[in-house]
Amino acid sequence: MTKIAVLVSGGGTNLQALIDAEKSGVLKSGTLSLVIANKADAYALTRAQNAGIETAVVLKKECGSAEAFEQRIVDLLESHDIDIIVLAGFMVILSEQFTARYPRRIINVHPSLIPSFCGEGFYGLRVHEAALQYGVKVTGATVHFVNEIPDGGEIIMQKAVAIRPTDTPETLQKRVMRLAEWKILPAAVEKVSKEYVK
Ligand code: GAR
Repeated sequence: MTKIAVLVSGGGTNLQALIDAEKSGVLKSGTLSLVIANKADAYALTRAQNAGIETAVVLKKECGSAEAFEQRIVDLLESHDIDIIVLAGFMVILSEQFTARYPRRIINVHPSLIPSFCGEGFYGLRVHEAALQYGVKVTGATVHFVNEIPDGGEIIMQKAVAIRPTDTPETLQKRVMRLAEWKILPAAVEKVSKEYVK
């Protein structure tokens, strides 16, 4: 069974989708083994604890440097024998030193149809603000492998979501999560777990 770690920063609805997918059997080739947050008050930690998943908090300011922060995460991943890393609302850009260690083993969910509205500075609600400002009529979500280019790794799955004339960034964010992110993230994690060779 593939061992999965999920890295989070906030509410953790995508983590919840993974927890629910493991319970329902949609995620069956991998097991959620560790949740790491870079914020002590991330609600995602409560979701993990409620599901009986081990948690850890790694704070950049306590580590002293970006390198030490990443090294602490690597140490946790190694001590837990983690195979696949899922970034589920993890609001940190990982260095090339980190991403090169795990080729095709880090998965990210991004709330737009890459290559639109992605890269540095495009995260969370900002992505939806940018889509509405531009006036696109269709947006969506993308699950992709993580490499050294922010949001630039190979695409695994995408799902489109229609924009409504009445949408605000908040209503759009919720609909993209419900119709796209919470569906394609568990499906993509299952696919990668199934294909993963130790
Ligand atoms: C999600 O919409 C996710 O796609 C986005 O942050 C939100 C986290 O929500 N991630 C990014 O913007 C990464 N560039 P969650 O904590 O409820 O899963």
